[in-house]
Amino acid sequence: MGCTRLAQEVRQDFPVLQRKVNNHPLVYFDNAATTQKPRQVIEALRHYYETYNANVHRGVHTLAAQATEAYEEAHKAVARFVNAPSWREIVFTRNATESLNLVAYAWGLRRLRPGDRVLTTLMEHHSNLVPWQQITRRVGAHLDFADITEDGRLDLDDLFGKLTEQTRVVTLTLASNVLGTVNPVKEIARKAHEVGAIVVVDAAQAAPHMPIDVQDLGVDFLAVSGHKMMGPTGIGFLWGREELLEDMDPFLYGGEMIHEVWPDRATWNELPWKFEAGTPNIAGGIGLQAAVAYLDRIGMDRVEACERELTAYALEKLLAFPGLTLYGPKDTRDRLGVLSFTLEGIHPHDIASILDLHGVAVRSGSHCAQPLMRRLGIEGTARISLYLYNTPEEVDRAVEALQKVREIFR
Ligand SMILES: Cc1ncc(COP(=O)(O)O)c(C=O)c1O
Repeated sequence: MGCTRLAQEVRQDFPVLQRKVNNHPLVYFDNAATTQKPRQVIEALRHYYETYNANVHRGVHTLAAQATEAYEEAHKAVARFVNAPSWREIVFTRNATESLNLVAYAWGLRRLRPGDRVLTTLMEHHSNLVPWQQITRRVGAHLDFADITEDGRLDLDDLFGKLTEQTRVVTLTLASNVLGTVNPVKEIARKAHEVGAIVVVDAAQAAPHMPIDVQDLGVDFLAVSGHKMMGPTGIGFLWGREELLEDMDPFLYGGEMIHEVWPDRATWNELPWKFEAGTPNIAGGIGLQAAVAYLDRIGMDRVEACERELTAYALEKLLAFPGLTLYGPKDTRDRLGVLSFTLEGIHPHDIASILDLHGVAVRSGSHCAQPLMRRLGIEGTARISLYLYNTPEEVDRAVEALQKVREIFR
């Protein structure tokens, strides 16, 4: 089946894609912010609440056992999705932000010493930057930044030049939420390990769009948000190497994460529960499993290939548009369908507002990446971000709406 046919079929599963916005059929191009949910995910949530809603781990009754088993199964499905050696390495969190904070606090705060260095990049989302600012400041460590090149790729010479014997952590995004760039994390991990640093990967934008194999990447931690890959909001995960997770103290303390408790001390539960304090987002975990099953059925290789085809089409149209500046790689090599741009003399919020009048949903602003905006010398961009259910016709609709933007501002 061709990619356009696949997209047409897939979209039937997404109720919201049938709606109209401002009297136009919705074109949903804000997938980097969050994706839409298929019926299969919505149904999994409904089924859980209607038939076996119960708290996990602490009950012996039938519903509790069913909920516990389903919640564990969800961890196993996610482990297979990223090819983790063990499902116990999958910690469910609220989102990628919480996963990254978990590493920064539970590993960084304990392990970093004054004078140590943490190396990151200028293309990070704030969620993989601000936690490290906090931790390095608290322990007296330094935060270093690898620059980007003119075409919006990571400047590897700069990055490797800043990788030193003092570097204890290399933390970077696998795919940029502004530039679309996919970074060569495998190569970076190999070099980082040579100097003894651990490698933390923000896969919030990558995991929904390309196959992820944590063993092949050779990294130490990987953070993902469920809502950007067709799952519910409020659920995400951290994958971490078992020996590192075993060796870490918990991030949050309370119920579920303990083994034994005395008035003055406590011991910790086994992985992954040691890092899942309190009643978890059970429904979210079950919904995430349904999302993973949905993507698996199509195949992540297929998802990636079809999105690349659509990205090539969108790139061609945008690059030919008068007065448009596109940020990030201009070809589909090592890039995803996140397309940030400005139109000469027109504020990105005006672009997004006028596109909305034509039913086209795009994001505008700094995309939680202010240091990158500063580096690019701009305040913000408009951003089209694609997913599997988008079609070339929708790209055409967006381009027609962009023409209207130009007419209004002429
Ligand atoms: C690259 C990247 N990292 C992290 C995040 C944070 O995701 P969340 O808000 O779901 O924690 C985002 C969200 O846009 C992102 O694009």
